[in-house]
Formats: sequence, C-alpha cells, structure tokens
Amino acid sequence: MNTKILQISLENPEIEKLNTAASYIKDNKLVAFPTETVYGLGANALNGNAVRKIFEVKGRPSDNPLIVHVSSIKMAKKLIKNDIEKFSSLTDLLWPGPITLIFNKENVIPDIVSGGLSTIALRYPAHPIAQQLIELSGVPIAAPSANLSGKPSPTNEAHVINDLKGRVECLVLSGKTVFGLESTIVDLSKYKPVLLRPGPVSVERLKELLPELSIHPSVKGEEAKNPLAPGMKYRHYSPEIELILYDGNLDWATKKIINETKKIKGKYVILCSEETINFYPHLSRKVSLGSRKELYSVAANLFDILLSLSKNDYELALCEPFPETGIGLAIMNRLRKASWKTVKK
Ligand code: TXA
Ligand code: MG
Repeated sequence: MNTKILQISLENPEIEKLNTAASYIKDNKLVAFPTETVYGLGANALNGNAVRKIFEVKGRPSDNPLIVHVSSIKMAKKLIKNDIEKFSSLTDLLWPGPITLIFNKENVIPDIVSGGLSTIALRYPAHPIAQQLIELSGVPIAAPSANLSGKPSPTNEAHVINDLKGRVECLVLSGKTVFGLESTIVDLSKYKPVLLRPGPVSVERLKELLPELSIHPSVKGEEAKNPLAPGMKYRHYSPEIELILYDGNLDWATKKIINETKKIKGKYVILCSEETINFYPHLSRKVSLGSRKELYSVAANLFDILLSLSKNDYELALCEPFPETGIGLAIMNRLRKASWKTVKK
C-alpha cells in the first residue's frame, strides 16, 4: 500500500496538510497521528468497517476495545448515556489532557469499537494536531496506540514509520511525544471510580478529585481474574529480548543485578538510572533511563530505549525498579508488563 506521509509542524500546523489527513478519516481510511501521550492509529469511530481495519493492521484481538478521541465536551456528550455534567469537576480540570474516562456507551458507537462492551473509553487529547484532525474530520476518532500488537507504543516518528509504513493510508508525523506513556484510564461507569491503567495523571492527583477512587489490582501487576480493561490480560510492550525486572528496593536490586551479571555468559545490558550507573562495574554494558529525580523524563525515554534494545544484539536486559510515586507508578506498570520475568525481594 502507498502510504501518504505528512510532516506537520507542532508550532504552526499546516492547515492544508491537516485537511488532507482529515479527508482520509472522512473516507473511512486509517491515519496515524501524534497525541501528547503516544502516537495513535485512527479511524472514524462511527464507522464499523473503518474501525475493523485498525484491528486487522495491528493484529489486535477483537475483544480489546479502543479509545475514542473527541475534540470537545459537546462531542463527548453525544457518545455516552451518562450525564457528563456530573463529572465536570473532573473534566474541567483534566480535559483536554492525558486521561481517558470510561462511560456507558450510546448506540451511535458501533460494537466493534468497544469490543462488545456496553461502555466506551473517551479521551479529549491536549495535542493541537490531534485536536484539529478530529475537528476537521467532523467525527470522533477511534485510536489505539499506533504500534503492532504486543510491541511498545510509538513515541517518535521512526517508531510509527517502522510499524505502519506500507500498511495504512496516511501517517501524520510531528516529532517526539511529550509524555511517552499512554493515558491514565479511569472507569466512571461503575458505582465507584476505578483506576484501570496508571499514566501521566497520577493517582495522587486523582485522589484529590475522586476520593473514592480504587485501584484495580492489575495496576500493580497482580493477576486479574476478571480483567476490567480487556487489554489487561494481554502481554504488552515486549522488547524482542528478555527483560528481567528487579522489583524491590533499589539497594537490594543493584546488589542483586551486580551478582547476577557475574554469572551471565551472553550479551546483557543493565537498565539503570543516572544516580546508579556508576555503581555497576566499569565494563558492564549499561543504559540510563534518566534521573530518578525526573521521572517524567524517564517515562518519556522508556519505550524508545526498550525498542532500541533489540537493535543491538543483547540477549538479556536487567532492569532496576523505579519509585511508584507520580508517573513512577505508570513506569513500573509498563516495566512489569514488558518483562519476561520479575524478581521480587
Ligand atoms: O494515550 C493513550 O491512551 C493512547 C493514545 C493514542 O490515545 N491510546 C492507547 O490505546 O493507549 P490502546 O488501545 O493502546 O489502549 C487502550 C486501553 C486498552 O487496554 C483497552 O483494553 C482499554 O484501554 N479500554 C478501552 N475501552 C475500554 C472499556 N470500555 N472498558 C475498559 N477498558 C477499555
Ligand atoms: Mg496499546
């Protein structure tokens, strides 16, 4: 397939290019586009045939529902049965932004979008290109992350090109995404709010706004018997090499990793932090994910580093734990999902 590549400026988005991208959405074709979290692979959310192509291209199981992206509260209102005004204290503060909210779905949304569920995940992204693309298309856009199923989400142009060039009609490219991790997901369709996926909007912040918020056990890696987000049961973000996460306190983890590396025969790499990189023997292969004092930048680098590991001929990656405060909870959630094995203290 011939893929139209549109390079769009973030500061001054070229309207004619945005119109071209929107015309693909209106024609029920697929368009990859940037958001402030990760790149998405979008289709007209009101057209079941357009949405079906997303599942085919990604190789995504059909029971794993998609997030629908809107460009206004007014647009969101038409897609759900709940009275969205009831949640205005939340949406006024957090939308547009890196958070997805789950409501009861209206029938205008085809069942394929929600994987047959009666609920729908909605996000109003803060990214100017994403917002204008939705606005010019005139329809809500269903979009999962723009990676092939099972791989880390794309956070830069090269990731999107690698996975989707030749497979979809149009790629809108606009540099690196800001957060580098997918949105926080909160289910508001149940009696009490539940955090289903940690992300850039932290639990600490959410609890100020939703004191009754509970945290789904899968967020911390506990096996969910009845996964609420169907995506929870699939293995995610897997780099093509084996990743071992040392999941405990940092002191213990660094010592354990040093001991382990003495025994390994193959080519390994240690995933560490600026604060700890010098603890490891001089000759070890090591990559810093960033400073522990700047977890937002660790998050922004994470998927790119995981994706780059398979390009080198490493056989094994040994990874330090990060603190589970702020966006750290999302970092650890993605690392646990990416890991082949976790070693606990
Ligand atoms: O930041 C993001 O959220 C990105 C950008 C493109 O918006 N999107 C994204 O989509 O990460 P995806 O498809 O990779 O992850 C969506 C997650 C899946 O785990 C899915 O199971 C869950 O949201 N989900 C979608 N609809 C749901 C629903 N009605 N109930 C529970 N979980 C739902
Ligand atoms: Mg995804």
